[in-house]
Amino acid sequence: MGDPIRFLLNDTEISLTEAAPGDTLLDFVRLGRRLTGTKEGCAEGDCGACTVLVGRLTEGGLVYEPVNACIRFLAACHRCHIVTVEHLKGADGGLHPVQAAMVEHHGSQCGFCTPGFVMALYGLWMTNPDPSVVEIETALQGNLCRCTGYAPIVRAAQAAGRAGGQLQDALAVERAEVAARLAAIPPGAEVQRGEARAVVPADTDALAAELAAHPEATLVSGATDVGLWVTKLMRPIEPGIFIGHLMKGIEETDADLRIGAGVTYSEFAPVVRAHFPEVEDYLLRIGGWQIRNAGTVGGNIANGSPIGEMPPLLIALGARIVLRHGDARREMALEDYFIDYGRQDRRPGEFLETIIIPRKGDAIIAAYKLSKRVAADISAVAAGFRLTVAGGRITGARVAFGGMAGIPKRARAAEAALTGAPFAAESFEAAAAAVAGDFTPLSDFRASVAYRQAVAANFFRRFWLEQAGIAVPVRLERAVAEAG
Ligand SMILES: Cc1cc2nc3c(=O)[nH]c(=O)nc-3n(C[C@H](O)[C@H](O)[C@H](O)COP(=O)(O)OP(=O)(O)OC[C@H]3O[C@@H](n4cnc5c(N)ncnc54)[C@H](O)[C@@H]3O)c2cc1C
Ligand code: FES
Ligand code: FES
Repeated sequence: MGDPIRFLLNDTEISLTEAAPGDTLLDFVRLGRRLTGTKEGCAEGDCGACTVLVGRLTEGGLVYEPVNACIRFLAACHRCHIVTVEHLKGADGGLHPVQAAMVEHHGSQCGFCTPGFVMALYGLWMTNPDPSVVEIETALQGNLCRCTGYAPIVRAAQAAGRAGGQLQDALAVERAEVAARLAAIPPGAEVQRGEARAVVPADTDALAAELAAHPEATLVSGATDVGLWVTKLMRPIEPGIFIGHLMKGIEETDADLRIGAGVTYSEFAPVVRAHFPEVEDYLLRIGGWQIRNAGTVGGNIANGSPIGEMPPLLIALGARIVLRHGDARREMALEDYFIDYGRQDRRPGEFLETIIIPRKGDAIIAAYKLSKRVAADISAVAAGFRLTVAGGRITGARVAFGGMAGIPKRARAAEAALTGAPFAAESFEAAAAAVAGDFTPLSDFRASVAYRQAVAANFFRRFWLEQAGIAVPVRLERAVAEAG
């Protein structure tokens, strides 16, 4: 038996010598600690009723982010500060400015969703005192309300920002002290209940050794996939190795960007904004804010899903990955990792360590996603494009799709139709025709075969219309003026 799992829950230090890998934070706070302000709506990361703030140590200091407690495992709380709605209070001990604004602006009716909204808005209020409507909506993508409607909640968010008080907030005043308490907790932990063992490796070398010794273990990073295996499929995940705190590095070289597999979407966002701004909106449509704060780029690749949205983009960008077993590493093109539906080129005891993305140079890039909702909804079809053009001709084309086959895959026939062709509408029409031969997609509840094929062809037309600057409404812009 190793060190206990230790974390701060509001003001209380928790030390657990016994826990199973599948124990969730939501059950712990509600059933174990009777902190019932945090609600269970869906238990699958969709509704946001269970939102809590998780404070964790980063190179830049202690950072608080809203996450879904229903799919956060207890072992992943090690060395974190968990903040539930019960912890909120104003400077006078009464309602917190976010809570007061929700009351004032009628942001709650039945109230079931309200603690979750308050916690997401608290996370926003803390980091962005003067958010735009779009920023508020982005922060609330992961919170569903069935009765109030969102306009009063958006008004409450604006009013809370105007009320201020960030510097007097408990999490600001006590930040240095909380950071010191977390830093004093040893980085590794290992606990079990019965035979079910949960391991938190202290560092990536410890992870490599643990996985090599126990290749049957389940790796758990952000748990935005694995969490649902437990809460929806009742699947055992022991022994579980919890790695969400590892492989956080982001390194920039002259030729490429090296992203640790444990980098979350939220941590990846500034890299995308700086180096690939054309696809920032694509990234901000993955899950909701809570999911992007937990889900990792590495998890989205490793899970091998045919509809994961990072692989089509990263394959188009020419990404390579580094897999590690013990001290041995091997590198491959990302597209070669996906062998067949449910089969990836990952050997027992191996894990994904790094994603290497070549710099864009003068290439034209784009990424598209078709889903039923704008956010918090995985795609029926997604695609990444990378084209180079010189002297009016397409000199290189990499186009990859998700949702069109059992794996994320390049559209080779469409790429061939584009390569060497003039950068002109007819070349994209030829590619739109050729892509029909690239894939034999399935019909499922997300889309039919015919719909998927039509969408794939239309992505080529859309790419051309956007690049040609033709005044056709290919993108839905927000029409509602920002409320004052
Ligand atoms: C509400 C909701 C909305 C979502 N929306 C989207 C969406 O819009 N688009 C989208 O693409 N996905 C979406 N997802 C899916 C999920 O968020 C992503 O696939 C996410 O990137 C998974 O990362 P994770 O860190 O949470 O992985 P985990 O759940 O921790 O792990 C996923 C798999 O990868 C393995 N794994 C994790 N890290 C490694 C590693 N370093 N090496 C080897 N194996 C590893 C795990 O063992 C497991 O098999 C959504 C999920 C939810 C719950
Ligand atoms: S209970 Fe719905 S997101 Fe957690
Ligand atoms: S107030 Fe009832 S669900 Fe939001």
